[in-house]
Amino acid sequence: MVATATGGPEVLEVQSLPVPEIGPDQLLVEVAASGVNFKDSYRREGVYPTPTPFVVGEECAGRVIAVGADVTEFAVGDVVATASAPAGTHATAAVLDAATTVPVPASVSPEVAAAAMLQGMAAHYLVNSTYQVHAGEEILVHAAAGGVGQLLVQMAKAKGARVVGTVGSAAKEQVARAAGADVVLRYDEIEDLAAAVRDVTDGGVAVAYDGVGKATFEASLGSLRRRGLLALFGAASGQVPPFDPQRLNAAGSLFLTRPTLMHYVATRDELLWRAGELLGAIAAGSLHVMIGGRYPLERAADAYRDLEGRRTTGKLIIVP
Ligand SMILES: NC(=O)c1ccc[n+]([C@@H]2O[C@H](COP(=O)([O-])OP(=O)(O)OC[C@H]3O[C@@H](n4cnc5c(N)ncnc54)[C@H](OP(=O)(O)O)[C@@H]3O)[C@@H](O)[C@H]2O)c1
Repeated sequence: MVATATGGPEVLEVQSLPVPEIGPDQLLVEVAASGVNFKDSYRREGVYPTPTPFVVGEECAGRVIAVGADVTEFAVGDVVATASAPAGTHATAAVLDAATTVPVPASVSPEVAAAAMLQGMAAHYLVNSTYQVHAGEEILVHAAAGGVGQLLVQMAKAKGARVVGTVGSAAKEQVARAAGADVVLRYDEIEDLAAAVRDVTDGGVAVAYDGVGKATFEASLGSLRRRGLLALFGAASGQVPPFDPQRLNAAGSLFLTRPTLMHYVATRDELLWRAGELLGAIAAGSLHVMIGGRYPLERAADAYRDLEGRRTTGKLIIVP
């Protein structure tokens, strides 16, 4: 699936390309499934400038069909996954860097592994490292029926937090509750969301997890208790405009961070720790990854239309 130009989903086109060559530190994988992510939308739209044409997708799982000369950790036949393939994963075969590839336990299906890697490791660093969620704390999770959202809710509940989720429809409200959210607010129906969050909590939350961005940023800030943290980890509704740091002072010595996964899996040890805990929890049945839709390669553009059009719950995957 090639992005032939910068633009909307209409620039996506299936093309027949030669199977790529691998370098000495790389693997060739027969792709079982590939994750559909906003990161791919941002690249296709030029928000993250990327020369075109390029094969879309960075996240996948599948079986190794060739290994580079210097690779010692993996062998042909292994089932592996990555959240950061260098040259496109919405394809029948993809090149992976061994350094950013992890083994998939036998009890986790490649489809679930492909669905879990990016969003699951993001949720993991957000609740363990960007902010350490503790038992009894109140937290806010926007888009709580979404891919990252459902995983954040589950991981925070497992730590004993009280979770306020926001969603954009009645159907999504059910999904957020099923994931474990204690209170679910319909942000499309509430005029003063920050006041609503403060009302249902002890005056505000310790941390607001915001992957929606432009539409929710102000409410996230207004929902925080004194010295609370806003973890702005995405921009599903658009990028947040420039911001005056003095506002953090006035609102209660608040913290603002804009984290991204690559800085939380920068070493092999950290990657293996996060992926190991994530895939281990899925294997143990304590973490559920909802696959909200499966699309063949030819329908990848529809997958992005659905994701960007706010029509999805859980995680979408491409099954070539
Ligand atoms: N920083 C990182 O490390 C990292 C890693 C992974 C993902 N992310 C980010 O996390 C966010 C969520 O990603 P995801 O893949 O899990 O997506 P998702 O949450 O499954 O889908 C996005 C959801 O955002 C909500 N939304 C509100 N306003 C929207 C708008 N104007 N347009 C589109 N969606 C809107 C919708 O839920 P409602 O209908 O309930 O409002 C929508 O379903 C994205 O911003 C993504 O870039 C960041």
